[in-house]
Amino acid sequence: MDANGLEGVVVAETALSDVDGERGRLVIRGHDVEQLALRHDFESACALLWDGALPDARAHAALRQALGRARVRAFARLGALGDALAADDAMDALRAALAHLRADEIAPAALKLEITAAVAVFAAAWWRLRDGAAPLPPDPALGHAADFVRMAGVPGADAARARALDAYLVTASDHGMNASTFTARVVASTHSDAVSAVVAAIGALKGPLHGGAPGPVLAMLDAIGTPEQAPHWIARELAAGHRIMGMGHRVYRVRDPRAAVLERAIERLHAAGVRSSRLALARAVEHVAVASLGERRPERRLAANVEFYTAVILDAVGLPQALFSPTFAVARVAGWLAHVDEQRAHGRLIRPASRYVGPMPELVAAA
Ligand code: COA
Repeated sequence: MDANGLEGVVVAETALSDVDGERGRLVIRGHDVEQLALRHDFESACALLWDGALPDARAHAALRQALGRARVRAFARLGALGDALAADDAMDALRAALAHLRADEIAPAALKLEITAAVAVFAAAWWRLRDGAAPLPPDPALGHAADFVRMAGVPGADAARARALDAYLVTASDHGMNASTFTARVVASTHSDAVSAVVAAIGALKGPLHGGAPGPVLAMLDAIGTPEQAPHWIARELAAGHRIMGMGHRVYRVRDPRAAVLERAIERLHAAGVRSSRLALARAVEHVAVASLGERRPERRLAANVEFYTAVILDAVGLPQALFSPTFAVARVAGWLAHVDEQRAHGRLIRPASRYVGPMPELVAAA
């Protein structure tokens, strides 16, 4: 019955990103993630994924402005979202809010910008409303990361925090054929529209085995409290048959390279005076978790994945835990939209087969 979660099955050719699980290397359109994330902002990653090359200064400024204007338009839609943003769960709210966009009402050339802007604006507005405050209108003059932090009402939002968030958004912008990207491509393969593909992808991202992990990672770090408690806590969780959030990966057999990028970005935040008390704890917990998992499953080589340090960096930036998964969507929507285009341009209807293992009619009749 087990089709093995399609592990190792190639379902598309892509020029967007390559995940080398054995070497722990992530290449996004010809650039190592380490180079890209620590030197470029989210707008540059969008240009790279959507147009194939990093933008020059003029193209970058134009994209930044266009995305800012799209955020303003997304904010103007808030009043027409019904009760979508009243959902308790941020991903439920985001999915419902985005479903209000109509692809046939948006010029095809503007779709990627409108959807990308809407994810950030709707996520931030959801948090403000939940926090009992009015949504903050976008500032189109800011970069996407800086404006997201500001719209989310992060106290002390500054350039260092925006830069750290940029590093996260670029790091998380694309990652091979992950579950939500595959979902988006399946929807795009039917020649459905980009809004539908992104709404479906958000549903896939919500799950704790995919984009829902960083919230639980932070909860775990809080529950552990101090490095000394880590061995006992991890041993108890594993004995109870629970998974350690932020550990393990379908493709990586070594430490996820994105974990190192995010650690570096957190160190940069520290250097700018924004200190995270959780970095040292996270490193200690990672150390214990890797050793414990290694003893239990030496053949599988389970190491830290991106979500482990996502929790630490988003917390350090000042975003609330409830916004961690939506912030993943703020980043990954860039990749989803690039994959939707690629699927439409080169792909065929994705329609795999299944092996029927249920009863045949005559056997049922005879029973
Ligand atoms: N903690 C404890 N055990 C784990 C584990 C973890 N984080 N990740 C995997 N394992 C165990 C599994 O239980 C499985 O054991 P079993 O065969 O006895 O059931 C074994 O290791 C092999 O798992 P694997 O095939 O590597 O998992 P997968 O490829 O199906 O799933 C993840 C990959 C990411 C879903 C999985 O590692 C996981 O659930 N991690 C925690 C959630 C998380 O961090 N998600 C974010 C991903 S970026």
